This record gives sequence, structure tokens and C-alpha cells, in this order.
Amino acid sequence: MTEKITPKREKLLANLRVQRYTPGKDRAPYFDNFKVEVETGMTVLEALRYIKDTQDGSLTFRAFCRSAICGSCTVVVNGNPVLACSTQLMPILKDFGKASVTITPLQRLPILRDLVVDIDPVIEKLAKMHPYLMENRDRIPETLEQESLMSQKELSEFNYITDCILCSACFSACSTVKVDDNYAGPLTIAKAYRYSVDARDSFRGMRIQAAMDQGLWSCVQCRKCINVCPKDTRPADSIRHMRRIAIDDGIHDTPGSRRAKAYTDDVEKIGQVNKPMLPVIVHGTKGWAAIEAAEAALAKHGLEPTRQVCTLPGQEGAAKIYAKVREIEKKEKA
Ligand code: SF4
Ligand code: SF4
Ligand code: FES
Repeated sequence: MTEKITPKREKLLANLRVQRYTPGKDRAPYFDNFKVEVETGMTVLEALRYIKDTQDGSLTFRAFCRSAICGSCTVVVNGNPVLACSTQLMPILKDFGKASVTITPLQRLPILRDLVVDIDPVIEKLAKMHPYLMENRDRIPETLEQESLMSQKELSEFNYITDCILCSACFSACSTVKVDDNYAGPLTIAKAYRYSVDARDSFRGMRIQAAMDQGLWSCVQCRKCINVCPKDTRPADSIRHMRRIAIDDGIHDTPGSRRAKAYTDDVEKIGQVNKPMLPVIVHGTKGWAAIEAAEAALAKHGLEPTRQVCTLPGQEGAAKIYAKVREIEKKEKA
């Protein structure tokens, strides 16, 4: 006989500290505290709903599907962007070891009211990436009855990205978005990559250019976007792949691609990156100013500047790995 498993149900009186703000009415955002009896399984959205129904009807948040599909309910809980409808409160209270959580709206986006932000800036950046297929004439079926089929291999190039629900959690967490208004953000470059490697598409060059115009090489690969993505679509990986296809397509004349090439060339030749000379390799003659400034700073502290780094022991091993990878790549292309 199958044993019935009854999950342990717990209750905890918690304090929900929720950011409030009505532009045009409030001078600045502030916090309201609400007492909620949190039960095992209760989501952030259910708690917000409970507050709205029983304590403050003016509390404003957004949610539609309640099934982690529409991407509309993202809020920041204790500093982490999460989907309110699929995130349970009890584990967060236990993880942080106190009966209080702080809920704020997504960062880097204008607040419309309380926890609702305007996602138009993200959509505008996305629109510049041509996020749609442009017909590849070689793949158009001859008759209307035929489908444009793809192989499993072709699909696997981008299948993992198609789960993105445009929740903007990655945009809110991104280190580069924080400092660079022009930067497209993780989800938009990931979408650009998704369409660029679709065998039915013919617009790859335009999208690579659009991604470069919006900071393709500005991503610092901190991987915060990967950590917060509720759908595990790994945007930072797509950004790396987008850079690779840009280089594969012969776009070598950018600071980012020069940096990538310098890293690989140096590690192959000397086992490490020749950092003293990197600014010149990446930025051309403009890089000399950075080198001279660094050398002056070292000299000020009595240190001898050098423009050469020594070859690391074991470099032959690194060179052999390079040779092996090139061999594999050659076979794959053949
Ligand atoms: S890896 Fe790149 S895109 Fe992702 S959060 Fe970091 S800087 Fe942003
Ligand atoms: S990549 Fe992930 S975190 Fe970013 S919008 Fe898509 S689903 Fe949300
Ligand atoms: S309400 Fe749709 S994803 Fe949460």
C-alpha cells in the first residue's frame, strides 16, 4: 500500500516591508510594514494579494497568469529579482533567519506606482534587435502545405533561450545596465542571438550590428543574469555565443574582439595575458595614455614598470590544448 505523504505545514507571523511610491504625489519612495501570517506554500504574490484585500487596497502590483508564464509579476525580494507568483515566502524567511522580508520594484526601470515599473525601455531596446525571423530563401517550402522543418541539431542552437518570458529580472540585476544606459541588457542580446542562429533566418548581420551598437562587448560576464533567471535561459552564455558569431562572421575590428583575440593569442604563446600591453592592443594608440599613467603610478611607489610578462611554466601544455581544439573545430567545419 502506498504511504500518503503529508507535507509539514508551518505558520509564521512575518513583517512584509513593501516599498511604496506614487510619482507626482510622493516626494520619494518610502516603506510600509504589513503583518502577514505566512503559511507553508504561500507565494509572494498571495501575500501581496492578502495585504491588498485585507489591509491596504491601494497597494499596487502587477500579475496576470499566476503560473510563471507571463513574466508580469517580477519584484525584488530581499535584493533578488523573483517572480512573485512562483516564489514562496517561507523558504526566504528561513534562509534569511528573520521574520521580515523587504519587497521593492525592479531596479533600473521607472516606477509607475508602488511595485509596478514601466518596461517600455526594455521593449524599446529589444525592438532595435529585430526580434523576429527574416525569411531565409533557401528554407522556404515550395508549397503552402509543406513546413520549414529544422533538425534537432539546428534547434538545439537556440532552444534553451525560447523559454524566456521577458520578466526583466535579468535586466534589473545586470551590472552593466547599472552603469551604462546604452547597454541593451541580457535578455535583448539573448533574443538577438536566438534569431541570429535560427536556420530559417537571414538577418544575422543586421542583428550583430544592432547588438554591437547597444553594447555587445560591454557585458562583464558577472553571470548575475544567469543566477536570477527563473527560466534558466542563461543569457550571459548567449551573449558569449553572440560575440563568437560576430568574430566568426569576420567582425574583428572592435575593442571587444581585439581583447578576446589578445587573450587567446597570449595564453597560447606565453601561458598568460600580457596585461601591461593590453590597452594598446585593444584601443590602439589611445591605449598608450593608460599604460603611461599606470607606469607613472608604479614609479611613484618605487616600482619598476615592465611591458613584458614572463612565459608561465606549462605553457607547452596550453599550446597543445589550442592545437587540439583547432583540430576539432576543423573537423566539425569539414
Ligand atoms: S553577465 Fe553580462 S548581461 Fe549578465 S548580468 Fe553580468 S554584465 Fe549583465
Ligand atoms: S532571460 Fe530569464 S530573467 Fe531575463 S527576461 Fe528572460 S526569463 Fe526573465
Ligand atoms: S503572474 Fe505571470 S509570471 Fe507571475
